[in-house]
Amino acid sequence: MSQTALITGASQGLGYAIADRLAGHGTRLVLDARTPADLDAATTTLLDRTDTVAIAGDITDPGHRAELAAATEGKLDLLVLNASALGETPLPTLATADLGIFRGVLETNTVASLALIQILLPHVRAAAGTIVLISSDAAVTGYPGWGLYGASKAAADQLARVLAEEEPAIRVYAVDPGDMSTAMHAAADPDADPADLLDPATAAARLDPLLRGELPSGRYAASELSTVVSS
Ligand SMILES: NC(=O)c1ccc[n+]([C@@H]2O[C@H](COP(=O)([O-])OP(=O)(O)OC[C@H]3O[C@@H](n4cnc5c(N)ncnc54)[C@H](OP(=O)(O)O)[C@@H]3O)[C@@H](O)[C@H]2O)c1
Repeated sequence: MSQTALITGASQGLGYAIADRLAGHGTRLVLDARTPADLDAATTTLLDRTDTVAIAGDITDPGHRAELAAATEGKLDLLVLNASALGETPLPTLATADLGIFRGVLETNTVASLALIQILLPHVRAAAGTIVLISSDAAVTGYPGWGLYGASKAAADQLARVLAEEEPAIRVYAVDPGDMSTAMHAAADPDADPADLLDPATAAARLDPLLRGELPSGRYAASELSTVVSS
């Protein structure tokens, strides 16, 4: 029986790269993103390789989360919590950061992640599966301007750490994928040289040991994981 994976934020960037990689293995995919046209375009490239269900919506919407859960049909081998909010740009210092935007960043990056975990955990348990929270080095480093986003990712890391202890029969990872050439990175740092950034497909390949649930639960950086691209 084929595996099923749910990946949030899969219309572009790392989420799409992970979906593309898993499609190559025939994994059944449940995907989302807020912009229907972008999600449709991404899905078109996956459908000829694997069963793909794409549902446009915002992970902060409980009704959308319920639709995603229903699409897994009760068995979920892999949940990748990838969709993320950066907050305001240019990135603000904490002295001036907007508290309403901070609440929104926390809602997307932390609260919605836990909400998805809560409704999908029975399905992940049934498959003895894997949950991957996509984190960032901003969760563990004091980069000026990255306080709101970094705090939300640090909180998500802690959710992963505690969940791993509470759910020893599944794997739970938080992982920093590294700096990638994506829309989010361009919004945060428009002056970055793309040549200094990872292609998201390379970052996705580095995550293979986690996507396959091969390592003990914990927090990882993709740069520490194997750079061998498996078939
Ligand atoms: N890029 C980097 O250098 C970097 C570094 C460290 C960590 N990360 C992390 O890596 C992950 C992927 O980042 P990325 O750079 O690949 O981002 P990206 O290219 O901007 O793609 C983000 C994806 O998530 C979707 N999305 C955003 N908000 C959503 C929401 N509320 N509900 C549903 N879908 C949503 C976007 O589509 P819509 O806009 O249409 O919804 C898009 O498909 C994120 O967790 C990010 O924090 C990135």
